[in-house]
Amino acid sequence: MAEKAPVIAIDGPSGSGKGTIARRVAEALGYHLLDSGALYRLTALSAARHGVALDDADGLAEVARMLDVRFDSDEAGGERIWLEGDDVSVEIRTEKAGAGASTVAAIPAVREALLERQRAFQRPPGLVADGRDMGTQVFPSAAVKIFLTASAEERARRRHKQLKDKGLDVSLAALSRDIEDRDRRDTERSVAPLRPAEDARILDSSGQSIEAVTQTVLDWVAEL
Ligand code: C5P
Repeated sequence: MAEKAPVIAIDGPSGSGKGTIARRVAEALGYHLLDSGALYRLTALSAARHGVALDDADGLAEVARMLDVRFDSDEAGGERIWLEGDDVSVEIRTEKAGAGASTVAAIPAVREALLERQRAFQRPPGLVADGRDMGTQVFPSAAVKIFLTASAEERARRRHKQLKDKGLDVSLAALSRDIEDRDRRDTERSVAPLRPAEDARILDSSGQSIEAVTQTVLDWVAEL
């Protein structure tokens, strides 16, 4: 039964390592993966393509409802994301797409439009869901809720490396400012603000390897 599939919710600010950790944990458990941030990024991209302004709440909600997206992976296991038949895997990771995402994500009708699409990812044998409100709004009865953080400097450094690896060049100082702005918007918005669920476990990944953080999450899952 779909309702019974356990959910591991991993929330936290930009650059905390959520995406990487969620992918590793999903692989280790053989679970499905939901990158909810990608849906907000895709909504912003699709809106730009169709000339829908970032302050047109109804238009943006319609774009979110109609999103034609496919998540895939290439032979090397890298992510491939298709929007309306076009490969947007690199484009959606730009800071511009991130800023657009955090703007559309502050609109209640957009969040509502994406709710069922996100919940549909909950399928056996289980789901690892990464985002800002997985444990608070989308999967409030998730089996494990984790709020992943890291120092602001470390988050900017990680993001910088990630973008460089994708061939996107951006200065570390500009990136730090972008991340700060985005975190402020995400934390201060009135709808589904970024905050740990009351029953979330806080995990500070500063100075820890990907392997160590992944193992901590797997240990918590094993306690179930
Ligand atoms: O995680 P990612 O950096 O891809 O998210 C991009 C933006 O989408 C975030 O800054 C946030 O504003 C928004 N978001 C959200 N709720 C989620 C996931 C992402 O509001 N569950």
